[in-house]
Amino acid sequence: LVKKSLTENAVIPDFESFCEQIRTIYLKTLKNKSGKVADYIPQLARVNPDQFAISVCTVDGQRFSIGDSGVNYCLQSSCKPINYCLALEELGADVVHNHVGREPSGQSFNELALNSRGLPHNPMINAGAMMSCSLIDRKNNIADRFDKVSKTWKALCGGKDVSFNNSVYLSERQTADRNFALAYFMREKNAFPENTNLTETLEFYFQCCSIESNAYDLSVAAATLANAGTNPLTGDTIFQSSTVQNCLSLMLSCGMYDFSGEFAFKIGLPAKSGVSGALMLVIPNLMGISIWSPRLDEVGNSVRGVEFCERLVEHFSFHQY
Ligand code: DON
Repeated sequence: LVKKSLTENAVIPDFESFCEQIRTIYLKTLKNKSGKVADYIPQLARVNPDQFAISVCTVDGQRFSIGDSGVNYCLQSSCKPINYCLALEELGADVVHNHVGREPSGQSFNELALNSRGLPHNPMINAGAMMSCSLIDRKNNIADRFDKVSKTWKALCGGKDVSFNNSVYLSERQTADRNFALAYFMREKNAFPENTNLTETLEFYFQCCSIESNAYDLSVAAATLANAGTNPLTGDTIFQSSTVQNCLSLMLSCGMYDFSGEFAFKIGLPAKSGVSGALMLVIPNLMGISIWSPRLDEVGNSVRGVEFCERLVEHFSFHQY
């Protein structure tokens, strides 16, 4: 009886049947073996491409996982929304957006392009993410700044430590000509705050991309965004709701590279992908879903990740509009 009255008030009252349907969607999507793993960073090219994980965490703490949900993977660009949130919390939207725009770029994530003010188009692409890194905790040394980011991920994941993949970081740093070119381009346009150390900023950005966790823990981070910044498991407020509102708006318009418009149209949910095959999906006021499968399509999104989202909204009325 206690269980019945508790689950009747849950955001997903019949969670068991919901999980059964997620399992069915997972198994259908698992058959898709198209796409290929990112190979521009050698360490990413060595990941087993067949892996596929789904983890769900609702805003009232119900959880479900299937597949490789305990296997660690790098955040890559799925770190970008959180770095943007950290910059917003510290400086406020007006200051942050003196340095980065909020329009989709319509171009690939590492395109050598800035907006008409000489700023990165938005915080969800490489140039904008480097800008967020330059803004976070500027008064501190680089070690403390990295600690701040990893502690934030720990809090977002409900107290679970995240790890760091040093070989991905080194590999990232070794193959960073395009990112250096973007950073120098921004410096030429005076886009960075005064006295920004370019090398430190880039290294900080590569380190953030090389943070690792698994779908099980990262679904709690996605659920924290779904829950307006308060972790549903610990009750701790990690970000103010206005920060999360700004972040989700830009995830919706810019989170899926140059597929963002199409994704917003078809799926209607904020999301952020990364070249490791990571995909963080947020269903506001309902749940966060972490999806991971390494094979990518031509724009750099996880093939199974996108297919899973398409099937999800065909099945449930999660599209926000
Ligand atoms: O900057 C890079 O090359 C990668 N570490 C970026 C990662 C990524 O997922 C692409 N994103 N926007």
